[in-house]
Amino acid sequence: MGKPVNLKEVDKVIKEYDAEPSSLIGMLQDVQAKYHYLPGEALHRIQEKVGVPLTRVYEVATFYKSFSLVPKGDHICTVCLGTACHLRGGPRIVEAFQRELGVEVSQTSQDGKFTLETVNCLGACAMAPLVKVDEDNHGGMTAVGVKKLIQKYK
Ligand code: FES
Repeated sequence: MGKPVNLKEVDKVIKEYDAEPSSLIGMLQDVQAKYHYLPGEALHRIQEKVGVPLTRVYEVATFYKSFSLVPKGDHICTVCLGTACHLRGGPRIVEAFQRELGVEVSQTSQDGKFTLETVNCLGACAMAPLVKVDEDNHGGMTAVGVKKLIQKYK
């Protein structure tokens, strides 16, 4: 689960920010974008090269909800539970994902392929109930649709 950490890639990110301690959040965002989480090796490398204490790196990594310290699946399934999506069956869509993947919200399927998450409004309420898989929106979702969606991304 999660691709192996390539420290050269991490070094590249650090270089892009000139190893500037005030750019710590930007570096973490870029590392997270590459690996879908913040691998420990990458955090150690940042501490080493940027000279920010490891406790500070972890402080930032745990403060922001968008960062994760545990590996995520290859695909992130985000079910919207904002008002419009909730009213049009969002909770049933969450249940369908839980059933199909055998996970709770915030967990990753055993094969490491999918992580299930929820969010409050993805900003496209007309498409309710809406699911986002990675960067793609899938509107008007149904329980059967969830099954098909999982097959598609497997
Ligand atoms: S409530 Fe789901 S997109 Fe806005």
